[in-house]
Amino acid sequence: MSLKEQLDRDRIPQHVAVIMDGNGRWAAKLGKPRLEGHAAGAKAARRAVEIAHELGIKYITLYAFSIENWNRPDSEVNGLMSLLTSSIAQQFVDLIKNNVRLLTIGDNSMLPDNVRTDIENVVKKSASNTGLTVIIALSYGSRFEIVNAAKSLLKKYSQNPFDIDNLSEKDFADCLYTSQIPDPELLIRTSGEYRISNFLLWQISYSELYFTETLWPDFDEEEFCKAIYDFQHRERRFGKTSEQIKDSK
Ligand code: IPE
Ligand code: IPE
Ligand code: MG
Repeated sequence: MSLKEQLDRDRIPQHVAVIMDGNGRWAAKLGKPRLEGHAAGAKAARRAVEIAHELGIKYITLYAFSIENWNRPDSEVNGLMSLLTSSIAQQFVDLIKNNVRLLTIGDNSMLPDNVRTDIENVVKKSASNTGLTVIIALSYGSRFEIVNAAKSLLKKYSQNPFDIDNLSEKDFADCLYTSQIPDPELLIRTSGEYRISNFLLWQISYSELYFTETLWPDFDEEEFCKAIYDFQHRERRFGKTSEQIKDSK
């Protein structure tokens, strides 16, 4: 039986977040320029979206470009920007027909105008779709997001400083880019790096973390199913004891 067939269809995570890492090393291994690695990475992203759709995952967040990635050489940043806009525009033609919705999180104001408008068009066109939601983290930094949330709360409470005692975790989360999106149950990082790199720090408080040595362009259906299978064999305790979890089943 394939791994896919062994998955418990009743326990598919509703939200999977992915740090798609290793494009550069994939290209270097083949003696190719880094941008070819990114092009292969874009294909792997498309494949991951299709698998997520098939498995019935409701939200998939793909970390495509971090705020820190602006510090890469100009040629790589420009190459990545044109790859992003062309692949999102092309791939979403079919995806929109398949009821997929696109959202982005991150500091859009830093994007080149054409990239921003191309992506905004796809977001608008797909806004009423009700199937899988694909969230692209683009020019995204989690600390930046948290500081912005703090700023907007400060502005809100400056009129009524005493109300701040009532501020809840939910009020805070409502000021993040992800206010309308449930927290990911599973976070995958490829390429054998064991770090979070400023991704969804608030939202992954209780996510299961899955790391694999596989480089992102090689992350295929089998690899995706392995991550889900592994997730399904974890016990999520949320601070409770194992006995409590078993008793509540
Ligand atoms: C991930 O691959 C894609 C982006 C960060 C844009 P990398 O480009 O980081 O690949 P490595 O880590 O150098 O192999
Ligand atoms: C994280 O990858 C960002 C994305 C995958 C877009 P990096 O390759 O930029 O991460 P670090 O800098 O090695 O931690
Ligand atoms: Mg990397």
